[in-house]
Amino acid sequence: MPIPRETVDQILQAARIEEVVGEFVSLKKRGSNMWGNCPFHNEKTPSFSVNPARNIFKCFGCGKAGDSAKFLMEHEHYTYPEALRYLAKKYNIQIEEKELSPEERMAQTEREKMFNINAFADKFFVNTLWNTDEGKSIGLEYFRERGYLNPIIEKFHLGYSPSKWEAFTNYAKQNGYDPEFLEKVGFSIKRQNGEYYDRYHGRVMFPIHNLTGKVIGFGGRILQSDPEKKLAKYQNSPESEIYQKKETLYGIYFAKSAIVNKDECILVEGYFDVLRMHQIGIENVVASSGTSLTTEQIRLVKRYTKNITMLYDGDAAGVHAALRGTDMILAEGMNVRVVVLPPEHDPDTFGKEYPTEEVLRYLKDNAKDFIRFKTELLLKDAANDPIKKGQVVRNMVETISVVPDPIFRIAYVKETSRLLDMPEETLMMELNKMLRAKFKKSLGVEGEVIPDEPIVTTPTQEQPQDETLPPGYYQERELVKLMLLYGGRTLTIKQQDELGQEVEEQVPVAQMIVDDLITDNIEFNDPVNRKIFEIYDQALNTEELPNDQFFTSNEDEQVSQVAIDLVTTQYKLDGWERHGIFVKKEEDILKKAVQYAILRYKDQIIDARRKEIQDQIKEEPDPDNQLILLKKKKHWDDLRVQINKMLGIVIAK
Ligand code: CTP
Ligand code: MN
Repeated sequence: MPIPRETVDQILQAARIEEVVGEFVSLKKRGSNMWGNCPFHNEKTPSFSVNPARNIFKCFGCGKAGDSAKFLMEHEHYTYPEALRYLAKKYNIQIEEKELSPEERMAQTEREKMFNINAFADKFFVNTLWNTDEGKSIGLEYFRERGYLNPIIEKFHLGYSPSKWEAFTNYAKQNGYDPEFLEKVGFSIKRQNGEYYDRYHGRVMFPIHNLTGKVIGFGGRILQSDPEKKLAKYQNSPESEIYQKKETLYGIYFAKSAIVNKDECILVEGYFDVLRMHQIGIENVVASSGTSLTTEQIRLVKRYTKNITMLYDGDAAGVHAALRGTDMILAEGMNVRVVVLPPEHDPDTFGKEYPTEEVLRYLKDNAKDFIRFKTELLLKDAANDPIKKGQVVRNMVETISVVPDPIFRIAYVKETSRLLDMPEETLMMELNKMLRAKFKKSLGVEGEVIPDEPIVTTPTQEQPQDETLPPGYYQERELVKLMLLYGGRTLTIKQQDELGQEVEEQVPVAQMIVDDLITDNIEFNDPVNRKIFEIYDQALNTEELPNDQFFTSNEDEQVSQVAIDLVTTQYKLDGWERHGIFVKKEEDILKKAVQYAILRYKDQIIDARRKEIQDQIKEEPDPDNQLILLKKKKHWDDLRVQINKMLGIVIAK
């Protein structure tokens, strides 16, 4: 059964070469590439390179080169379909196994036709710009006047669409494109009398490229402003199967390798801003062009770097746009900085006026992390007004609450506390309140994803930070917290009895957690957590479960410390305490929270084990032993897939 073309594209786009190769070869970053010893020939100094931006590998020793699929075919001796299936599995992409229906086949050829007409139009507009009198005297002249030079005009395939009303429509018709299709893709517009004319007539043309460099749409800029007719400055392609505005960034194809290289992406607003930056040699620049920034666009950037710098106009609208963008970028777990230009400038005019070094210096001197950017902006307004200052505090805390990583949240609270001259604890309390509210909401709303990290954000002093934490540490604490808060509550579980009949059973939360982990032979890593776990384990054999007080005032000071820490940052599942009884929905919420916490924890543990083996594989010189390790690793990989499937079910339920 052939894999559908679209799926193949999807797989190859999702596959990150450094991740695929990294499973088999130990790589080190040097410059924009990563290097390792070639797995295809014997060598002592690395000549095997992986280029993340181009998504390819190449060995300068033996000459082998290609994409992720090619690597697997060479290294694992897979066939092409096998390699694709391996990648599909790795990146969680579903492969439709059925024969394509006639409609689907049509849709597929429709896509190809769309790429085709865009490439055809691209050639036409470029040719018109360079090789016709009108193109040269009007279109090319326009770019020249704005200070654009040949190399940049050529690189970005800038073009010109003749002012004659039907020039392109007729040319395309002569070449076999039917006008209805031209209308659908946006090149032609139908008149009342049924005839078609060019949407872009008399405009300079910007082709929009996808990640692989194919043209998927156009923007056309009008040349003179015409106050009487009030024509839009830009005409853009309508959305289509191949062009979705919210998933597209103008310039990404030309910028991606510079983005990897600089480990930073500069985000601007317009076509011309991208052109100008490239012309002055700053190439890690893309534009959201015409839409306000979307999460999809941010994720596109995230494939190449975690650092975004927003370079927006100095006017109020620019500042506003930047503000809106920062929260979305933060929510993706990325770092965002903002540079605001002097009010009279946009990146295009700024780059035209100042030499590259000065532009770079301006960027360096004026980039503010979002905390400073936002606090200063808000404070300007609040001045000495205490009520307004209170609003600033809430506003900042709201922003910090979207950051997924608790460690970063703490760092941001510290910085805000300094800038606002406000005690850290006050901000932290406010933040926890907000996080709890959000968490509750996420539990209540059907199908919404529960935050990855626990609500606890204040690590006590003696706790190790960051990398020194054992795998699954936070998830472990989350489970302990659930036991402390709800250990004695019973949930209704469906189970199979000895005869395979489904029976309902009342099980305390603590038992659900303890049984589950014991069955899978998993032990908590952290000694204090383990101690609490063991107390529950023993208590479950007796009549009575200990209440949270047993732990918060425990003779073991470490135990009581952790328990206090956890229960004082508790999230309440709405209304438990007040009603004292279970409403069905609330029970479901708790069950979901418990199942989710268990699975997340296992996922972390399994991930740690497979990473361990992966490292062993890289060190292991003996191919036979390697094979054994690979088999072991596959076991963990499979388990992880299973866990993730179950997680998906719990979240979606
Ligand atoms: N845009 C659009 N339609 C409009 C106006 C703007 O699609 N009517 C999009 C374009 O992608 C444009 C971006 O928004 O590039 C930013 O707008 P603006 O700053 O006005 O355009 P510039 O590209 O900077 O054009 P110019 O410098 O020629 O004014
Ligand atoms: Mn501009």
